[in-house]
Amino acid sequence: MSEELFPVPAKWAQDALLDAAGYAAKYQKSIEDPEGFWREEAQRIDWMEPFSTVKNTSYAKDDFRIRWFEGGKLNISANALDRHLADKSDTVAILWEPDDPAAPSRSLTYRDLHTEVCKLANALKAQGVAKGDRVTIYLPMVPEAAIAMLACARIGAVHSVVFAGFSPDALAGRIEDCQSRIVLTADEGLRGGKKVPLKANVDAALDKVAVDRVIVLAHTGTDVPMKAGRDIGWAEAVVDQPAICEPEVMDAEDPLFILYTSGSTGKPKGVLHTTGGYAVWTSMTHQYVFDYQPKSDGSNPVYWCAADVGWVTGHSYVVYAPLINGATQVMFEGVPNYPDHSRFWQVIDKYQVDIFYAAPTALRALMREGDEWVTRTSRKSLRLLGSVGEPINPEAWDWYHRVVGERRCPIVDTWWQTETGGAMITPLPGATDLKPGSASKPMFGVRPALVDPEKGTLIDGAASGALVIADSWPGQMRTVYGDHQRFFDTYFSQYPGYYFTGDGCRRDEDGYYWITGRIDDVINVSGHRMGTAEVESALVEHPLVAEAAVVGMPHEIKGQGIYAYVTTNAGTEDSEDLRKELVQWVRKEIGPIATPDVIQFAPGLPKTRSGKIMRRILRKIAENDTGNLGDTSTLADPSVVDDLLANRPQ
Ligand code: WT7
Repeated sequence: MSEELFPVPAKWAQDALLDAAGYAAKYQKSIEDPEGFWREEAQRIDWMEPFSTVKNTSYAKDDFRIRWFEGGKLNISANALDRHLADKSDTVAILWEPDDPAAPSRSLTYRDLHTEVCKLANALKAQGVAKGDRVTIYLPMVPEAAIAMLACARIGAVHSVVFAGFSPDALAGRIEDCQSRIVLTADEGLRGGKKVPLKANVDAALDKVAVDRVIVLAHTGTDVPMKAGRDIGWAEAVVDQPAICEPEVMDAEDPLFILYTSGSTGKPKGVLHTTGGYAVWTSMTHQYVFDYQPKSDGSNPVYWCAADVGWVTGHSYVVYAPLINGATQVMFEGVPNYPDHSRFWQVIDKYQVDIFYAAPTALRALMREGDEWVTRTSRKSLRLLGSVGEPINPEAWDWYHRVVGERRCPIVDTWWQTETGGAMITPLPGATDLKPGSASKPMFGVRPALVDPEKGTLIDGAASGALVIADSWPGQMRTVYGDHQRFFDTYFSQYPGYYFTGDGCRRDEDGYYWITGRIDDVINVSGHRMGTAEVESALVEHPLVAEAAVVGMPHEIKGQGIYAYVTTNAGTEDSEDLRKELVQWVRKEIGPIATPDVIQFAPGLPKTRSGKIMRRILRKIAENDTGNLGDTSTLADPSVVDDLLANRPQ
């Protein structure tokens, strides 16, 4: 099935912004003449002052620099809002669908959004927030999350959005790392009918790290304690603020946001994106990947990206790109299976969604509930489907294509990363014949390459290897906040001259790319990145844990699950109760997305004589691929492997 080819439907080839020849020509130009290509593409953005240089980049160790559109001045919130006011002020920007389908939905036009953003921007200024200051945003999926991000961008403050599912500890760590003095939050979030105690989480985080100000949105309206002198209500903060706020003049390379993401080692890294390149890159990719253009009657297609603003997909493809492109979009507070498994498809019918973009993990969870939840809805409005966050297995692809899209909607399987800002390898619906499970072809300006992970040499033709990118693109991250050396070391040191993605990949005889998953110590749980080192350090913080090693395991719904090997202190009883306690412990330390799926108590871990844990063996055991453990003769104590095999939890 995976080798099946789904040709571009004739209507798409005809009506899309780009057909196969159009893609090929544009791609070729982007590689042969990057300067010319990007100079032209950058015209989609309103610049307050033109840039003088298009591209100034080098991955060389002694001459390392990534700068785009230098000298250019712009404000990304003005691009997302002000420039639509002339002819699109009454166009709906956000159709907000609440968690509870019976609760009132909200509709915000570009004018509404502009007003709200200006008022909040002025309120932030009144609280002393200035250009370059970091602002932490810990909000649920409500329009105010987008408003908060745009208000920061408007005054040149750098936002750091922390996913509302993260624990107080995780929040505190992120506030501390970027030294933000202000947090924007809500009383509570709502997800699947359950309340998320956001303000209480902020209070707990602020026991560990102090800030000057907390602005609290009344969302569910519940009473929350307000600390005098520190906390103020959102409504109160904005009420007397003028609805006009001149956008700050930002340099193309001024920081726009920090977003923390997990790596193979240490604490999450603050991925820093800047303004000009990110604006060009996200809006361009959004336009072509989703073929975002007016419908035949001149109206906006309705676009829905189901990602949370707490992740990069929400930053690029809920907030910035669609608004820069003047789109009309659905923003959804809830979850796919509440009140029932039909919710996604009901929302699609309710708002007549044309373009839908979601993660395979959600599709797999819905798929197993049976087709009836889907087929009882119309979905006639749907024209295009997207997938993001993890490899989509052919079964889920087939279900999405056949049942959800009734074979008429192409699926754009977009491969990218927090670091890349936007889609890097992806089909274009009018241009690319689809192969289920393949992210297919590079976006303009992207030069993917495969290297032999052992030898570090480039591999040509149909082959597998480590996926690297040979040149810079405008939406590339610029640094790890506060640690530029870590940025270079993490991404540019393994394979000098290349950006290393951390992913393994196969290229087939047609030049299609097939992402096979992470080849570093990062696991992808439900489309979200989790560093094994992070889960390990949470576990060893428990007083009864001596040592822990965490690896990924195949998981039917989540893609990958978390498998933890735990060595407890001498004299500890490795009981079922302790196992449960450790699961709760990790949830509390990091958040529910880090919940271990399996904890195996292990009296010893397989280590080399120099003390290095042989993760290869732990991965094989977790994958239940125990027939071929490879060479174990270099282990200090090979008998620990027998013990691990004998005590593998079923
Ligand atoms: C990692 C990046 C893309 C934004 C959301 C996740 C995996 C992402 C795909 C895809 C196969 C994918 C990769 C990548 N990944 N999209 N279409 N096919 N794998 O961003 O949290 O930074 O994670 O997600 O392994 O490295 P992220």
